[in-house]
Amino acid sequence: METQQTLEVCEVNDKLKEGEAPRTFKVTFLPMGVTIEAKPGQNILEIALANHIPLDHNCGGNCACSTCHVIVKDGFDKLPPMSDEESDQLDEAESLTLTSRLGCQVKVFHDIVVEIPQGSNQTWRKAEQH
Ligand code: FES
Repeated sequence: METQQTLEVCEVNDKLKEGEAPRTFKVTFLPMGVTIEAKPGQNILEIALANHIPLDHNCGGNCACSTCHVIVKDGFDKLPPMSDEESDQLDEAESLTLTSRLGCQVKVFHDIVVEIPQGSNQTWRKAEQH
């Protein structure tokens, strides 16, 4: 799987003309409606944290909790397949849907829209109280 993702990045960068900036992708976070430009291969958790989007990550992005759960609203079919470890961990998430993924395990190679489930996100709840 990692090899396939690496090839996709190489293909994207190989098609760049001289002087052309590397391609970026749009990641939209709901319900806040914030859209961020991301580099190919960044994961959703990294993108969220770098842009002050409240997404919990109790295990630090090591696929050992389910607090970075996101619901993919657009672009789900273009995502890399889920590993067994992600699938097992995701089973523990609240508000699980058919398009749920763990933000720390999903690398972005296309435009994507994700929703952070408010009921399971402690950081989001704290931000709302202020
Ligand atoms: S931060 Fe724990 S599984 Fe993603």
